[in-house]
Amino acid sequence: MSEVKKPVFQPNKAFAKEARIKNMCEYQELQDWAHEDYEGFWDHFAKEKIDWFEPYTNVLDESNMPFVKWFEGGKLNVAHQCIDRHLDSRKNKAAIIFEGDRGDKQIITYLELYYNVNKMANLLKNEFGVEKGDRVVIYMPMIPEAAYAMLACARLGAIHSIVFGGFSAEALRDRIIDAEAKTVITADGAFRKDKPYMLKPVVDKALEEGCECVGKVLVVERNGEDVEWVAGRDYSYNEMIDQQSPVCDAEPMDSEDPLFLLYTSGSTGKPKGVQHNSAGYILWAQMTMEWVFDVKENDTYWCTADVGWITGHTYIVYGPLAMGATTIMFEGVPTYPDAGRPWKMVEEYKINQFYTAPTAIRVLHKTGAEEPKKYDLSSLKVLGTVGEPIDPPAWKWYYEDIGNSKCAIVDTYWQTETGGHMVSPLPGATPIKPACATFPLPGIMGEILDPETGEKVGAGESGYMCVTRPWPSMIRGVWGDPERFVKSYFGDVTKDGKPVYFTGDGANYDEDGYITITGRTDDVINVSGHRMGTAEVEAAIKKSSDVAEVAVVGKPHELKGEGIFAYVVLKNEENLGELVDTMKAINNVIKQEIGNIALCDDIVFVPGLPKTRSGKIMRRILRSIAKGEAITQDTSTLEDPAVVGQIESCVKNGSC
Ligand code: WTA
Repeated sequence: MSEVKKPVFQPNKAFAKEARIKNMCEYQELQDWAHEDYEGFWDHFAKEKIDWFEPYTNVLDESNMPFVKWFEGGKLNVAHQCIDRHLDSRKNKAAIIFEGDRGDKQIITYLELYYNVNKMANLLKNEFGVEKGDRVVIYMPMIPEAAYAMLACARLGAIHSIVFGGFSAEALRDRIIDAEAKTVITADGAFRKDKPYMLKPVVDKALEEGCECVGKVLVVERNGEDVEWVAGRDYSYNEMIDQQSPVCDAEPMDSEDPLFLLYTSGSTGKPKGVQHNSAGYILWAQMTMEWVFDVKENDTYWCTADVGWITGHTYIVYGPLAMGATTIMFEGVPTYPDAGRPWKMVEEYKINQFYTAPTAIRVLHKTGAEEPKKYDLSSLKVLGTVGEPIDPPAWKWYYEDIGNSKCAIVDTYWQTETGGHMVSPLPGATPIKPACATFPLPGIMGEILDPETGEKVGAGESGYMCVTRPWPSMIRGVWGDPERFVKSYFGDVTKDGKPVYFTGDGANYDEDGYITITGRTDDVINVSGHRMGTAEVEAAIKKSSDVAEVAVVGKPHELKGEGIFAYVVLKNEENLGELVDTMKAINNVIKQEIGNIALCDDIVFVPGLPKTRSGKIMRRILRSIAKGEAITQDTSTLEDPAVVGQIESCVKNGSC
């Protein structure tokens, strides 16, 4: 860890006065309460925040760890929590403000949201036969209908599984099959940089084989481009929606009924369907919105994520709507028509909280450092980052040039599996340090543990970021694979004889007890804030007929955080002369199998891989070579130590 002491920035005093948590004493009181009476703490907030149809009888059952039950016996509906309960006091308030890529705008009030979601729910129920417990795959652009689809599923008790629009047909097909989805909701496409792009053809391709489970496809016509319609399977949302009744009862759901699946990469094998259930998830989504962004009744909040990722689920749709906030949905990209787009939007909508990823901050900084000066950003109060460690230069620009040195930066650390924030500053309370996630939120028993002893590590020592007690929005399972759930998250670290949740991330405490997340300890890499399993990318590359062996590692990348670096052993060394074509072929395979987000930045053909005698690839060596670092690892256990020097010279020369 760095020896240089990080500067500390105190919360803005005027902001703190009005904040929900006003100082570190209040933070500590909440955290002490949770420590002393864990169930009492959560019981209090569950009663205060959720509009229960029927009260629960038990706060937490951890008798069958890690299969936990929160708020058993309770009945609720997440769509009711996000919409219906606000109608008395907020029916004419903007729930969603949509801005299209080309500048088209739409304001959807809570009452309109209620009708739109009910109609979509009725369409799914009456025309498609979607019922409680059915899985619905959503493959959509960033348009309001994506939120309607999510909430319509929640209203019916159907389990949605959103697949990010950048994933390929193969990746979509795998997820449809794994979840045995009954219905797919998609769009013809949408707009990006003033041009139409397509989604429906990807769905058509995905459904070509192995997806017999899918009976019907609902297509929102967004860009009006020609698409193929399969009779009896594909239906136009635009043609059907107006005939639907605007009233649809919200299905009473058990606290632990599943709300959604979201597939995410692990260190091994195929992506796993992370399952989140109803009550605990929505409770923590709402609480963290209130505490971490401190959104007030008249505020406008913008999270730039895509609904295809967990950030879009929790902090564009569920969290903001659960608390009755106004949330912005943006279809476009932040650098189009220029790198001032987000700041123009901040000025125009008078945005108060802005939440984005370090990758976006780096790109906006690099391509438009002077842009913020052109706009009035004085409405901003809280700035957030998520998805990867933020580097100090990006942090500084964000703090000074966007936040005018008066906004708190909340560096929120969490994961698909945690459902909501775990470690984050509180904007009115926590003195912040650049690029530092600071402290676990109240109620979260986050600790950095020594993986060997299970003891909390001391200041300056690195350890594993763990959570030692179940929290309400914790992952409830890996769809269809309970063993993988236990093994993936509860297999590595044991504290006081009990397995605890391990995030997969390394972290350390500084001398003030501040937590800094240092990155993954496993074979997961983080490309532009998107999680990617090296195993997944390798499996894709292996489908290329020229490839004998492959190993993929992450390499620091100026804008993306990490880039993908592939070491490839070709079947036929004579092909070496055709390197460029082969490189293209390899990236084409990745595009087909996963999507553009997994394209390799570097592909190096090597004569062999550094393997131990038992055949395990020593990726640490490959990571060092990719970074251009000297090899300090012991290579004597390798089957063929000479291969290391050969690989190094391949990398230096670009080929062998
Ligand atoms: C990383 C995104 C450092 C981390 C919400 C984690 C972070 C993975 C931060 C989860 C942060 C997320 N600082 N690293 N503030 N936030 N990460 O599931 O490695 O897409 O395990 O969820 O992103 O990525 P996921």
